[in-house]
Amino acid sequence: MTSTESVPETIDLGLVPQASAADTARAVNLVLLPLLARGLIVRRPPIVAGAEKLDLDRRAVRELQRLRHRYGPGPLRLPLPRDLALVLDPEHAKRVLAESPEPFRPGNLEKRHALGHFQPYGVLASHGTMRDDRRAYNEKVLDTPSPIHCLAGDLLTKVREEADAVLAIGEATGRITWDDFIQRWYRMVRRVVFGDHAADEPETTELLGSLRADANWGYLKPKNRRKFERFEVRLLQHLARAEPGSLAHLMHETPSSAITVPHMQIPQWLFAFDPAGIATWRALALLEGHPEAAARARDEVAGVDLAQPHELEYLRACVLESLRLWPTTPGILRDTTQDTVWESGVLPVGTGIVIFAPFFHRDDERLEFADRFEPSLWTGDHDPDAWPFVPFSAGPVVCPGRNLVLLLTSAMLGSLVQRHEYRLPASRHLDPTASMPSIYDPFHVTFAVRPLT
Ligand code: HEM
Repeated sequence: MTSTESVPETIDLGLVPQASAADTARAVNLVLLPLLARGLIVRRPPIVAGAEKLDLDRRAVRELQRLRHRYGPGPLRLPLPRDLALVLDPEHAKRVLAESPEPFRPGNLEKRHALGHFQPYGVLASHGTMRDDRRAYNEKVLDTPSPIHCLAGDLLTKVREEADAVLAIGEATGRITWDDFIQRWYRMVRRVVFGDHAADEPETTELLGSLRADANWGYLKPKNRRKFERFEVRLLQHLARAEPGSLAHLMHETPSSAITVPHMQIPQWLFAFDPAGIATWRALALLEGHPEAAARARDEVAGVDLAQPHELEYLRACVLESLRLWPTTPGILRDTTQDTVWESGVLPVGTGIVIFAPFFHRDDERLEFADRFEPSLWTGDHDPDAWPFVPFSAGPVVCPGRNLVLLLTSAMLGSLVQRHEYRLPASRHLDPTASMPSIYDPFHVTFAVRPLT
């Protein structure tokens, strides 16, 4: 029987295992609540700092390992008012992602509530023909299959210029803070999405930040229509300029239908460039802690004009490793749209499914390299798909911005390391002889920087 077939009426398969009340309470406390507290839509920096100190994701991984020992591969139902199931087996994680959006619907209940605050017509919350239509539009503009986006020449110039501005701060003050970096990063993002005219217009970023903070509360917070409309007007004004060399220009040239709502695809892009900045900053910290990798990264960009399109395999791998160690979407969520059959029984329609990415990326019972920085996992002979490393998800709903993100982040990282070296204080240094922390707070990372001699 294939997995998407509905359950034959003549066979009573029973339901997949259910956790005891005590184990459910532990799973809620150790896995689900910390996930929610950090912020599903926008990270809450004080909570991320606290989560790092408490090593919360390691505790979550240990708990999921314990549940796997106790109940088998799952999926494991949690008897809560909202039907939820935890995925515990790599093959099951692959299956859920491969069989999305049917019968594993990506726009699940919690996501729809949260995304409704700032992108009600975005592809992520869409289903059926609307999803198909919006997905195709996103893929066209983001040039999903191409490692080198069709606008790479224009976009990389913007990255290089903003990297130079970050480095100028470093040269003037001897250090670069997260705030120095992220302000320039946002500037780069606005230039990429809307064009250079938006470089110094932070209000769009700020309005979105405020809507995202509301979205963290999901349905517990009423939607702020006025704020949303102000944001929408901004988007439309930027788009109307269709500035050449920006995604806005490509949007202008890309056919859309009556149901696409093109401008409402942008909030997801702007929102998702945030974790890309976080991943880049963490990758820089990884390189600071791993001199051999830093030397290799520098070799890759030695003498390279990073404003021109290049596929920087090693630097991309460093960003991917940053995302494996610290996935910026730790919870991949789905809702089942029909009963599904598993080795251990049936999972009923309407169940929310949680794939907790750190469990699959950092399962030290199965992965010898779980807690090491290992860029080689993403280059050469290794096949990262052999294990579900899913920082960008996988299957038909895989992040359509993956290649664009890796192009821009690797170029930013390359620009930062090409002619400069970095030092972190002991408290933020990532010692290669120790396990990488389960969470690494990027917001309190300040690099001492100096030009290479
Ligand atoms: C480090 C940066 C990023 C990471 C780690 C990331 C990861 C993800 C993940 C995990 C999903 C969810 C898929 C699912 O539910 O299975 C997703 C969806 C999506 N991402 Fe990204 N993303 C990043 C940046 C971007 C950027 C910069 C863009 C656009 C410019 C983008 C566009 C999208 C879109 C449109 C979706 C929805 C896809 C769909 O529903 O079919 N992402 N991304």
